[in-house]
Amino acid sequence: MNLAEHLKKKSTEEKITELIMLFSEQASVIRDEFVTSRGAADTKNVYGETQMALDKKADEILIDALKKSGLVRWIATEEQPDIIEVEGAKNQFGITIDPLDGSSLIDVNLAVGTIVGIYPGHVLEPGNTMPGALYILYGPLTTLTYTTGNGVHEFYLDKDGVFKLMEEDLTIPDGKLYAPGALRRDYMPYHKKFIEQLESEGYKLRFSGSFVADVHQILHKGGLFTYPAFKGKETGKLRHLFEGTPMGKMVFEAGGAVSNGKGNLLDVKPASVDERTPIYIGGKKEIALIESYVKR
Ligand code: AHG
Ligand code: MN
Ligand code: MN
Repeated sequence: MNLAEHLKKKSTEEKITELIMLFSEQASVIRDEFVTSRGAADTKNVYGETQMALDKKADEILIDALKKSGLVRWIATEEQPDIIEVEGAKNQFGITIDPLDGSSLIDVNLAVGTIVGIYPGHVLEPGNTMPGALYILYGPLTTLTYTTGNGVHEFYLDKDGVFKLMEEDLTIPDGKLYAPGALRRDYMPYHKKFIEQLESEGYKLRFSGSFVADVHQILHKGGLFTYPAFKGKETGKLRHLFEGTPMGKMVFEAGGAVSNGKGNLLDVKPASVDERTPIYIGGKKEIALIESYVKR
């Protein structure tokens, strides 16, 4: 079964179907750029990070496609300082995009991805209002995983450029992997105790430098990814809108959870488009454990 057939089978709303299909069509366009858009660009994004040529190219490809389609009113991306408003859009959707996540891995040919959140209107709303989210992973296979609140489903790009069903109704299993961001010497006391408990229980380390790839692995094998608040950066590193809520929605719909350490990240309304957040994402058991350490 292909992606279009699957969306139909799940009785997905027409407007959301069009949007998911539009992103799926850009996957091979972005993938083709891996060969040509190599190396760093001469610019920095709003977070002060050096942009890679591919960060900018993927951003441009997705913004152009969305503008042409008229399918969304607001576009917020990690590479743009401001939210773009599309004149005369036919729908009211707001979209958040991390065009290329894991960009420090582009030059070493490891898995990177595109992360998309879909909002019913403006994007400065809690993640629990999202009607859907998706991510594309560029690994040995190109895969697309989506949710519209009716299960989490995964597809691979076949040699004819069509996304075919790989796995339907994914659920996060119990598992013992942990992906801990930040430097151990900068851990907060509660975080240090939490990580030590996971290690004493035999959790194995898996951290690639690509959030989307690491969370994808956790979604399939269980455990937890975290990029916590740390000494010198109490807000954490990852971005609430571009990384936290869309991947949080995916994991939540697969039976897991996402937290900022204090509570469900999907319940938090961000104050600005570039807001950062501490993040814990994975199995319910691991999320309950960190929240209990934060409260102690
Ligand atoms: P991006 O490539 O979109 O800037 O995101 C990078 C993020 C995330 O993918 C990853 O988990 C994290 O940064 C890695 O950070 P460190 O290099 O500090 O480990
Ligand atoms: Mn990112
Ligand atoms: Mn990025």
